[in-house]
Amino acid sequence: MLNDIKSVLYDEETLKEICNNLGKQISEDYKDKNLLLVSVLKGSVMFMADLMRSITIPCRIDFMAVSSYGSGTESSGIVKIKKDLDINLSGYDLLLVEDILDSGKTLYNLRSVLSLRNPKSIRICTLLDKPERREADIVPDYVGAVVPDEFVVGYGLDYDEKYRNLPFIGILSPHVYEK
Ligand code: IMP
Ligand code: MG
Repeated sequence: MLNDIKSVLYDEETLKEICNNLGKQISEDYKDKNLLLVSVLKGSVMFMADLMRSITIPCRIDFMAVSSYGSGTESSGIVKIKKDLDINLSGYDLLLVEDILDSGKTLYNLRSVLSLRNPKSIRICTLLDKPERREADIVPDYVGAVVPDEFVVGYGLDYDEKYRNLPFIGILSPHVYEK
């Protein structure tokens, strides 16, 4: 598996630091609010687990699964809800927790769908941001790190459902998807 990684972008220690900083900021910003963290599966699973541990105010969590990618590296732009939320959003300050914001189409569509359910507010927290690739009109409120326009895997992020279990984030070697 490690042979498929061109280089390591963020090691475990750096990721921990990123989560701690975001958690601190979110705890401050939401101290008088009714925070609901919504993790967009599956890519944000490790990020969510670390981020919620660094949040020091009461909050609730829920999970949702949408699909936008096939097995390639380009977004289809079509969002299909594969697993919906259990919690009714009315009265909550919703914070969407994403792994990576690329074209932004997935989150743009997801945000539109969720805002129809009358949450008090909706914001976006993404671990990684690839602003060069943005096509949809969406600006994240919290960003862990800005990454170059390369395909990254690990710490929850996949290529063809693989590499999610790597504890760090690395750049996928092009030989893997140029086959
Ligand atoms: P968007 O709709 O183009 O913003 O795509 C967002 C989704 O595409 C993310 O939630 C990821 O699942 C996936 N994605 C985008 N870029 C990467 C990447 O570099 N590595 C792994 N997954 C990615
Ligand atoms: Mg994803």
